[in-house]
This record gives sequence, structure tokens and C-alpha cells, in this order.
Amino acid sequence: MIKKIGVLTSGGDAPGMNAAIRAVVRTAIYNGIEVAGVVRGYNGLINGDFIKMDARSVGETLQKGGTILQTARCREFRNIEGVRKGIENAKKEGIEGLVVIGGDGSFRGARDLTREGMSTVALPGTIDNDIACTEYTIGYDTCLNTVIDAVDKLRDTSSSHERCSVIEVMGRNAGYIAIEAGIACGAEVVLIPEMGYDLQKDVIDVIESGKKRGKQHYIVIVAEGIGGVVEMAEKIQELTGIESRATILGHIQRGGSPTVRDRVIASQMGSKAVELLIEGKSNRIVCMKNSEITDVDIEDGLNMKKSVSEELVKIAKQLAI
Ligand code: F6P
Repeated sequence: MIKKIGVLTSGGDAPGMNAAIRAVVRTAIYNGIEVAGVVRGYNGLINGDFIKMDARSVGETLQKGGTILQTARCREFRNIEGVRKGIENAKKEGIEGLVVIGGDGSFRGARDLTREGMSTVALPGTIDNDIACTEYTIGYDTCLNTVIDAVDKLRDTSSSHERCSVIEVMGRNAGYIAIEAGIACGAEVVLIPEMGYDLQKDVIDVIESGKKRGKQHYIVIVAEGIGGVVEMAEKIQELTGIESRATILGHIQRGGSPTVRDRVIASQMGSKAVELLIEGKSNRIVCMKNSEITDVDIEDGLNMKKSVSEELVKIAKQLAI
């Protein structure tokens, strides 16, 4: 029976990571297993930066955005010597298994840890929801709610001034945040990297036809993988005569108190990760399939592909008339 595990957060932070950490710590302690928090992601393994965690360590954290263990991107962990150094430090600390909470970049580190003999289970923690093996990643719902709150505010001022608001949202190279926020905000236009776009056909013509139907303000949501919102706003103003303003929402999308959906899913996933380690499983990603919490092999998970739902793309266009 495993006696001690470590838990770390890696890559871009996401609201709900603390709920996942809390679930890992308390599920482990409930099962008589000690927990070491690893500070600043994989850097903490390489630097031997561990903190003892007990049930009280994660008290009052469920509702907090960010990650109490801090996070970082770790270059040293991209080579096998770094991985081996991390494992050596973990073993010195008595750690027999690790839970890694992060995005697909962090999963490669989790895979390497397993290959080098440290049992590791990964949880999908990123606002982007761009991890192919899971329907849901921790932080996505909270991010969407932050975006729609901001866009609803921008719609207020755009309607007052009869303007077009061009808004960039995060998502790295994926359009999941953009397409769902676009539908939720009733955006006239949603541009995502998966679809590409033609300025005249997909933006200008849509705005012009909306104007003919009596629209007096416009919302254009642009995924950061497309970018260029300042120039796009200038072009829209030049070609349509409608005053246009650009807003880049940026890192506000990464903060905030996690929503119920993120708190519950993070708690389920954190608990599942510890159960897998107790069962002696390793090299697994905890994921959501058909709304159920399950797990897949990390190699298989990293080789999977997913794309933005064509049905959502169709709805976003149809409902914007
Ligand atoms: O992966 C999450 C994310 O917020 C992406 O949406 C974004 O492109 C990236 O992280 C920003 O990275 P950083 O916080 O290092 O600027």
C-alpha cells in the first residue's frame, strides 16, 4: 500500500486547481496516505522544494482561484536528466507516487516520470479545454463565466455608442473558449483558428447585413490563435463606417473563484487520481467521457485529436442574425 504521494500544479494556472489539490490531499489522508506538496511545478521536484500537507493545509482553498502550490513552466524537465533528478529528490522525500495537475505539456512530464519509474497520474487543468482525451478541463467553466461577464459589460457600452466591439479571448491555439463564449454572449461574429476566416465575407458582410436588419451594435469574438484585434477594429471602422474598439481580455480569464462545475469536477478528478495510485495504476490521465469521470493511458491521451464542434459553429452563425 502506497504510503506517501506528491501533488503539483504545472503550466498555466486555472481556477479549480486548488479544489483538485484539496481533493488529492484529503482523499489521500482519508486513506492513510501522507502528502507532500511540490512547489512551483516540476521546478519543485528538481529543487527538492516540498511542503508537508495535511487536511488543514487545504482548508479555505476550495473557493480560491489560482494554485496554492504555485506553478511554472520548467525547461529542465524537458530532458531526461531533469526528470531523473526530480525522481531522485522525490524518492528522498519518501514519495512513491505523483499527481500532476496541468495541461498537455505537463502530461509529457508525467509520462516521462512514469517511464523512469515514478508512478504518476495526471489531471487536465487548463482554461483552454484543448486536451483531446477529455470533454472537460478544470478551469474552463470559470473562464467562460469571466468572459461572458466582461463581454456583457462591453455590450452595454457598445450599445450606448452604437459601436462594434472586437474582443480577444484566450485559448492558445484552440477556439473552445471563443465559440462557447460567442454563443453565450450572442456575438455577431466568432473567429477561431480551427476555421480561419475571410475578413470581407465572415466579418464585414455579416456586420453590414446586421446593420440592414436594424442592429445598432456588434460583438466580434476573436480567439487569440487568430489575434490582430486592434487592426481588425480599425479595418471594420474603415470599411463599414461603424466606430469600433478592440479589447484583449488577457489574464483576467485565468483568475476568479471557481464555479460550482469546476469545484465539483476538480474534486471528482482529484479523488479519482488518488484512487488510481492506490490501485497501483500509473501513466494515466483522469478525464471526462460522456460526462463520466474515467481515465486513459497518457500515451494514448497525448495521441488523441479533438476539434471544435461543427454544430456549435453552425449555431453561433445562425443565432447571430
Ligand atoms: O494555457 C492557458 C493559457 O492561458 C492560454 O490560453 C494562453 O495562451 C497562455 O496560457 C498564456 O500563457 P502565459 O500565462 O505564460 O502568458
